[in-house]
Amino acid sequence: MSLIKLINLPSLGDERGALVALEGNKLVPFDIKRVYYIFGTEKGVSRGFHAHKQLKQVAVCITGKCRMTLDNGTEKAEVWLDSATKAVLIEDMVWHEMHDFSDDCVLLVLASELYDEADYIRHYQEFIVQANK
Ligand code: TYD
Repeated sequence: MSLIKLINLPSLGDERGALVALEGNKLVPFDIKRVYYIFGTEKGVSRGFHAHKQLKQVAVCITGKCRMTLDNGTEKAEVWLDSATKAVLIEDMVWHEMHDFSDDCVLLVLASELYDEADYIRHYQEFIVQANK
């Protein structure tokens, strides 16, 4: 199974414009417990640099773009999130980083759990050890 799991978000557009609907346990393969978004990222700033022990997330740039790198401890891959209809699934135990944010980027993230700092692995060496257990 590929590390990059893209989810195509059908646009329910009509002559008035576009609309994308995200529902838990449908296109988004978990109950959505939390939504957050990242915007106004300063030039040259990269974010992420962590994995989650349990949390699963779906991320989509609803405006602008950024480059996401994913790493499961054995394989690395990257994807440009550059469309409001292209989401990526970030599974648990996947180290992820976001780079090259455009000025207008709004990165929307849907999460399977409430915020819990104890669920983060923020040190890459610790991640590699855990991921290869
Ligand atoms: P962090 O996860 O480090 O952001 P990124 O992965 O984009 O670099 O979160 C940044 C800060 O925001 C950190 O202090 C934790 C806080 N935060 C919450 O309080 N709730 C949340 O849902 C998220 C994602 C972060």
